Amino acid sequence: MTLSISLTINGQPKTIALDDPRVTLLDLLRERLYLTGTKKGCDRGQCGACTVLVDGRRMNSCLSLAVSLNGTEVTTIEGLAEGDDLHPVQAAFIECDGFQCGYCTPGQIMSAVGLISEGHAGDDPERVRELMSGNLCRCGAYQGITEAVLEAQR
Ligand code: FES
Repeated sequence: MTLSISLTINGQPKTIALDDPRVTLLDLLRERLYLTGTKKGCDRGQCGACTVLVDGRRMNSCLSLAVSLNGTEVTTIEGLAEGDDLHPVQAAFIECDGFQCGYCTPGQIMSAVGLISEGHAGDDPERVRELMSGNLCRCGAYQGITEAVLEAQR
């Protein structure tokens, strides 16, 4: 049975036919829509590499069935910059060296954008570290990541 869902992805309305109701949002984004900026790390909700915004809130796309998101607005890393103008969080990650290999960076940035827009981040580094703890970085660039989240709010 084919199901049809409607999503707004990075501001673009899309109607998508799903042959398999078990398709995750992550696989839909990467394999059907070729939005490969969203990364697959663990595929089980442990690393945060797949973080996107759904209706403005952070979500692990590997844990979310696409079929359950009908009618929502999804924002991926590809939807942040406006032309050549980086989003302030993207610019802060560059300025603060908030990455090394870069694999976790899209998820880190989407998580930071979500928590800042939710108004939870504040200016306490410990609090920022706690709020970003769902996003792992194998390179250990946590100091720069925390500084970038703080910088993006200034
Ligand atoms: Fe989704 Fe790791 S790939 S949390």
